[in-house]
This record gives sequence, C-alpha cells and structure tokens, in this order.
Amino acid sequence: MKNLSKKIIRITAAVFMTSALFMIVSAQTPTEWVAPAKFVSMKSPTAASKENIASGKDLYAKHCKSCHGATGLGDGAKAATLDVPCGDFTAAKFQKEADGSVFYKITEGRGKMPSFKKTITDDNERWNIVHYMKTFKAK
Ligand code: HEC
Repeated sequence: MKNLSKKIIRITAAVFMTSALFMIVSAQTPTEWVAPAKFVSMKSPTAASKENIASGKDLYAKHCKSCHGATGLGDGAKAATLDVPCGDFTAAKFQKEADGSVFYKITEGRGKMPSFKKTITDDNERWNIVHYMKTFKAK
C-alpha cells in the first residue's frame, strides 16, 4: 500500500512537471499562424486599383496603424504595450504571403490581433486593406 501511494505521488509529480514545462515552452515560442487552405487559395474580389489601395490606406490608418505602424514595421504606439510582436509587413516573408491568408488573419484575428469582421463588416474593404498592405516595402 505504501509503495503504491509513493508511486502515485511520483507519477503525479511527473505529470505536473511535464505539463508545466510544456506551458512554459508554448508561452515563449510564438507559433506560426497558418490560415486554413480554403482562405489561402481565395482570390481578391477587388482589383488592386489606385482607388482601392487608397481606401485600404484610410482604413489601415484608422484601424491598424496604432499597432502595426505607419510603414508596417510593427512599431505603432500600442505595440510597446503588447507582449507579442506585431510582425513586419515589409518583410519578404509577409509580402509573399497569399492575399487570402492575410484576409483571413484580418477577419478572424488571434490573441492580441483583433478580429475585424464586426468592425470592418464589408469584405471588400478588408480585401482593399490587403492590397494596401502589399505596397509596404523594406527601406
Ligand atoms: C491592438 C493591436 C493591433 C491592431 C489594432 C491590429 N493588429 Fe494586426 N496584429 C497584432 C499582433 C499582436 C499580431 C501578431 C499576432 C500573433 O502572431 O498571434 C498581428 C498580426 C497581424 C497579421 C498577421 C501577420 C502574419 O504575417 O502572420 C496581419 C495580416 C495583421 N495583423 C493585420 C492587421 C490589420 C490589417 C489591422 C487593421 C485592420 C490590424 N492588424 C490591427 C496587433 C494588432
């Protein structure tokens, strides 16, 4: 009986330590944010026209700049108050990301990144922001 309870204590301790370790590791490693395939393959219903890019720019200034910064570097005033980086939209990795994937992330959000489906309810407006974001270039 004594041996059995010792065993139980040992197993409980091992389980506890493993889950604690897992929690520490997962909290510190930002996980890759992958959009569902259904969105990745989506094509924008709006053209990357001058007017649509300008409309996307206005919306970006209103809703996104505070965190992502005027030039997309992730250095907006609010960024410093967040415990996760906002990303760099001028990076080659972001510029190569499928439009549909960017659209999905704006629509659904994740963690500190807000979901905009209820704030910017017109899908076309969110697609226009995507067009504007694709104009960010590394300096
Ligand atoms: C309150 C701050 C905040 C605001 C406002 C905000 N974002 Fe974000 N955004 C974030 C953070 C933080 C992340 C990183 C989230 C993560 O990786 O979990 C992010 C991630 C993203 C990503 C994913 C980048 C990638 O490469 O995976 C996109 C796209 C994005 N934001 C677009 C926008 C757009 C467009 C707006 C405005 C309509 C906006 N964000 C407004 C904080 C913000």
